[in-house]
Amino acid sequence: MHLLFPLIACLLLSLLPHSLSYNLPLLCHQEERVALMHFKDSFIIQNYSVCGLSTDYPKEVASWRVEGNNTNCCAWDGVECNQDTGHVIALNLSRSCLYGSITSNSSLFRLLHLQNLTLANNDFNHSQIPSEIGNLSSLTHLDLSYSQFSGQIPSAIQYLSKLSFLSLYSYYDNYGLYTKNLASLVQNLTNLETLDFFGINISSTVPESLANLSSLKLLALSNCSLYGQFPTRIFHLPHLQKLDVWSNEDLTGHLPEFHTNSPLKYLYLDGTNFSGNLPASIGNLNSLTSFTIYNCNFSGTIPNSFSNLTQLTTLDLSANPFNDLSWLTRVSSNDILPQFGFLGLAHLNLTKLPDILRNQSKLEYLDLEGNNLQGLIPKWMHNVSKESLQNFYISNNFLTGIENSPTIISWPNLKYFAVDDNMMHGSLPIPPFTIYLQYEFT
Ligand SMILES: *[C@@H]1O[C@H](CO)[C@@H](O)[C@H](O)[C@H]1NC(C)=O
Ligand SMILES: *[C@@H]1O[C@H](CO)[C@@H](O)[C@H](O)[C@H]1NC(C)=O
Ligand SMILES: *[C@@H]1O[C@H](CO)[C@@H](O)[C@H](O)[C@H]1NC(C)=O
Ligand SMILES: *[C@@H]1O[C@H](CO)[C@@H](O)[C@H](O)[C@H]1NC(C)=O
Ligand SMILES: *[C@@H]1O[C@H](CO)[C@@H](O)[C@H](O)[C@H]1NC(C)=O
Ligand SMILES: *[C@@H]1O[C@H](CO)[C@@H](O)[C@H](O)[C@H]1NC(C)=O
Ligand SMILES: *[C@@H]1O[C@H](CO)[C@@H](O)[C@H](O)[C@H]1NC(C)=O
Ligand SMILES: *[C@@H]1O[C@H](CO)[C@@H](O)[C@H](O)[C@H]1NC(C)=O
Ligand SMILES: *[C@@H]1O[C@H](CO)[C@@H](O)[C@H](O)[C@H]1NC(C)=O
Ligand SMILES: *[C@@H]1O[C@H](CO)[C@@H](O)[C@H](O)[C@H]1NC(C)=O
Ligand SMILES: *[C@@H]1O[C@H](CO)[C@@H](O)[C@H](O)[C@H]1NC(C)=O
Ligand SMILES: *[C@@H]1O[C@H](CO)[C@@H](O)[C@H](O)[C@H]1NC(C)=O
Repeated sequence: MHLLFPLIACLLLSLLPHSLSYNLPLLCHQEERVALMHFKDSFIIQNYSVCGLSTDYPKEVASWRVEGNNTNCCAWDGVECNQDTGHVIALNLSRSCLYGSITSNSSLFRLLHLQNLTLANNDFNHSQIPSEIGNLSSLTHLDLSYSQFSGQIPSAIQYLSKLSFLSLYSYYDNYGLYTKNLASLVQNLTNLETLDFFGINISSTVPESLANLSSLKLLALSNCSLYGQFPTRIFHLPHLQKLDVWSNEDLTGHLPEFHTNSPLKYLYLDGTNFSGNLPASIGNLNSLTSFTIYNCNFSGTIPNSFSNLTQLTTLDLSANPFNDLSWLTRVSSNDILPQFGFLGLAHLNLTKLPDILRNQSKLEYLDLEGNNLQGLIPKWMHNVSKESLQNFYISNNFLTGIENSPTIISWPNLKYFAVDDNMMHGSLPIPPFTIYLQYEFT
């Protein structure tokens, strides 16, 4: 007996992990399982072909069961429990083809231990986000993007003080989400690293207090009907990597002096009314990979310090009233320049193909539309980014032809070539088979 006891204990211990893995229901709290089932049952789960998600692997919410061998809600697709307490701490039902409303008495709000809640890409039938969301006070990660919520964003969001990720990304339309007070909604959410309000009707100035959210890494306020002066301090947030405010046509602002060691990687200001000069100190942003200011109101000189931005691969300067384009046009073949994949130089009143192109070997997308380009496309252009170029737009200029016109278009991977609205005559090079061509030759 004495001697056998340790042996039995040993046997039991070695069986324990094994038996646990078959006995998982112990881990799932009954009231949370019931809450999850009620939540599931409050929706119609659409046919994947109806909700248009045939390509992605959708969550198998339909397989959730409360009987048989599948009662452990911790093992359900999209559910995650705390290993020690067994409480449901993460629910990820993105792309689950859920259709229906979330009401204020929804059993979702009984899952009080939730830290991560992702309901992105479902169809909540234009229901409002219930203010009971504010009861889920452990949330660090809340993603309700692309899920057809409507109405005012509940002010209770302000109580979710642990949030580090908040995305309500939505379609901007009459049925979309709106807020009347962005400042009070987020000013206490000091742990936020991601704030994505793309497409939410904010219709106000950008609150200065956003510059106090010192953990922010990503701030997306595109397409939000913002107006007034953009707070310059936001550019200097110590961890900010991505600032996305495009498509706010009444938003004004200037670029600040940039310091070295700024982590800024992406700056998207297209379709705003930002103005003034591009500061030479932009050359200090040595992490910058994308800078797009299509259709803003910047003027003055394009600073030479752009040449120092070795990480820069996306640059769109199109449609700004610059006075001095010499950074583009007076480049020598010795100059070291960023290698662009995407270069937008449309509507800049360029009179000849800019020399900067001669040094480019990785372009995939080149836009030179609506300039003042005249004469022939020069023969050196045939060798620019020969293998990589896919989209080439040069419509709406005064070009008359192509120098040393080859019989076959020079770029073997070109997919889209727009040369219409010029003064082209002569013969057109034959495109590779798959190209989409927009041209008028006489
Ligand atoms: C989904 O819809 C398609 C087309 O309407 C139909 O062929 C298919 O049987 C449906 N699948 C399910 C699981 O209902
Ligand atoms: C669970 O039960 C279903 C039918 O009730 C059966 O098809 C399936 O194989 C069982 N799964 C396991 C892991 O036992
Ligand atoms: C919540 O989501 C974040 C980001 O995806 C992840 O790092 C974290 O592990 C998740 N937490 C839980 C409990 O799933
Ligand atoms: C949620 O699940 C999807 C896959 O269905 C995954 O791509 C995404 O990263 C998950 N989100 C979180 C926060 O875990
Ligand atoms: C969706 O909303 C419409 C209009 O409010 C309502 O008539 C319909 O019953 C709702 N459908 C579901 C599944 O909740
Ligand atoms: C929520 O309340 C409505 C009535 O206001 C009721 O019809 C519905 O069944 C309730 N839903 C849940 C999940 O309790
Ligand atoms: C849940 O939220 C509602 C509305 O914000 C509030 O009235 C209620 O007291 C909260 N319940 C708990 C348990 O926090
Ligand atoms: C956005 O909100 C403003 C003010 O709240 C309102 O006047 C405007 O109609 C809204 N825009 C849309 C598209 O709903
Ligand atoms: C923010 O927090 C402060 C201090 O904790 C509190 O006094 C204030 O009411 C809170 N504001 C909002 C909008 O929640
Ligand atoms: C930002 O924080 C500073 C210091 O904590 C405070 O004095 C200031 O009032 C805050 N600004 C806004 C606009 O909330
Ligand atoms: C580029 O950087 C070098 C060294 O970091 C510096 O000497 C030079 O002035 C910079 N050029 C411009 C145009 O900013
Ligand atoms: C474009 O350039 C031409 C010739 O340099 C000049 O006459 C014209 O005013 C410029 N147009 C714009 C819009 O800057």
